Amino acid sequence: MRKGCGIDGDDQQERFDFVVVSNRLPVDREIAHDGTARWKPSPGGLVTALEPVMRTNDGAWIGWSGTAGDEVEPFTTDGMHLVPVTLSEDDVRDYYEGFSNDTIWPLYHDVIAPPKYQRDWWDAYVRVNERFAERAAATAAEGGTVWVQDYQLQLVPRMLRERREDLTIGFFNHIPFPAYGLYSQLPWRSQIIEGLLGADLIGFQRRADAGNFLRAVRRLFRLPTVHNRVELPPQGEGRWPNSGGARPRAVVARHFPISIDARAYIDLAHRADVRARAQQIRHDLGDPGTIMLGVDRLDYTKGIGHRFAAYAELLAEGKLDVNDTVLVQVASPSRERVESYKALRDEIELTVGRVNGDYGTIRHSAINYLHHGYPREEMVALFLAADIMLVTALRDGMNLVAKEYVATRVDDDGVLVLSEFAGAADEMQQALLVNPHDIEGLKRAILAAVHMPRGERRQRMRSLRTRVIEHDVERWSQDFLTALAEARPSDSARQLAAGDQDQR
Ligand code: G6P
Repeated sequence: MRKGCGIDGDDQQERFDFVVVSNRLPVDREIAHDGTARWKPSPGGLVTALEPVMRTNDGAWIGWSGTAGDEVEPFTTDGMHLVPVTLSEDDVRDYYEGFSNDTIWPLYHDVIAPPKYQRDWWDAYVRVNERFAERAAATAAEGGTVWVQDYQLQLVPRMLRERREDLTIGFFNHIPFPAYGLYSQLPWRSQIIEGLLGADLIGFQRRADAGNFLRAVRRLFRLPTVHNRVELPPQGEGRWPNSGGARPRAVVARHFPISIDARAYIDLAHRADVRARAQQIRHDLGDPGTIMLGVDRLDYTKGIGHRFAAYAELLAEGKLDVNDTVLVQVASPSRERVESYKALRDEIELTVGRVNGDYGTIRHSAINYLHHGYPREEMVALFLAADIMLVTALRDGMNLVAKEYVATRVDDDGVLVLSEFAGAADEMQQALLVNPHDIEGLKRAILAAVHMPRGERRQRMRSLRTRVIEHDVERWSQDFLTALAEARPSDSARQLAAGDQDQR
């Protein structure tokens, strides 16, 4: 419900019962030929999941536009009320590229790249989290519900509770939460836990992530946890965490594996133009016997190099033939000013050059490497064209590409090779599960996928699809909002949970 009434005397501001807070707004700015700007919904699953909840409850979404220095007034697009937060060049460098993506990201992904601990980055993280919290405090209606998303905003729950004890606050961490032995490296480990404990419900992708978080709570604050609940004593007593509110309360930490809008992928997979495009892709690649596909942000967590190493060895050993096999690798550009991402790009592109130089022919490249992002239609055509999908992440919160591939395969065909270090592995046991560090094991899985009989492919794909279709992103948001209403049974939380049920 949209309200013009004010809290604490601010009566100009519109207030909303449901507020989502994430680093990025769920829209991209498109500049037309005549120079005018237009906001286009970004294709992410989170928007799809939350859009209906936002519409029914007339919610608002707080986030950054994606451009440094952008100062945009709140606006409404496609029925969604968006509240932009401005990030300066310095904020982008120190909060986004620095602390979020060069400290937390590598630390939470098991230090695959070394995390950098820089005090000025931490200061920027605190400063920008304050800004998001201020915005959320000024946007949420009395007794409203705020859902904070992901590792860029871990301090927001506490900062928000300090300002607004009346709110119900949820937090969802989209990336892994590391084991305490690694987490304890973080110079600001206590402050982050205190930040998160400001929420009533903290969601993680895997059961193990929630377990790691609860262990960190016990180790750092000697607080008892019962199952997935942390009982917070009254504040100001020595070692107890300062999580924002003055009252004793409980915080629940649980796993809620995120998913995709499966229906949207199925619909695209049935579209005649998308199917024709899939045929065209196969044709353009020379109609080989086997098309393998990798689709990732160009990120060191994705194990792209491990995938290439296994494939190159299979070509070298003559177990795969370049005349009959191709690996298409879509690597979408990401965080390009961060050093470890620059180094990764150099390494990956050097490898592509080497593998193609060693094994390619005039007619056939071994690896077809595309450093671009593509619209969803093109991705679905690629999924339909690919016999084997390679997801070899070294660590991944979930990996939605694995779910997108499976949803797309309305023909019950195709083989998913999936890393056991991706969150998706917990639910997708019918994939060929691999340890990407074990190159011999990865090679065996690729060969098993190449030679898998049609009957087995169908059987595995059917059960994978059933799981993804039944557990789609709408169910994820419903499960989270229902648990949030149970964790703190306020009117707004109950209404959100009930409203979401009604829509199904
Ligand atoms: C991961 C994170 C998201 C992030 C996305 C893209 O999926 O969990 O929070 O938005 O990567 O990264 P970027 O840095 O471009 O926002």
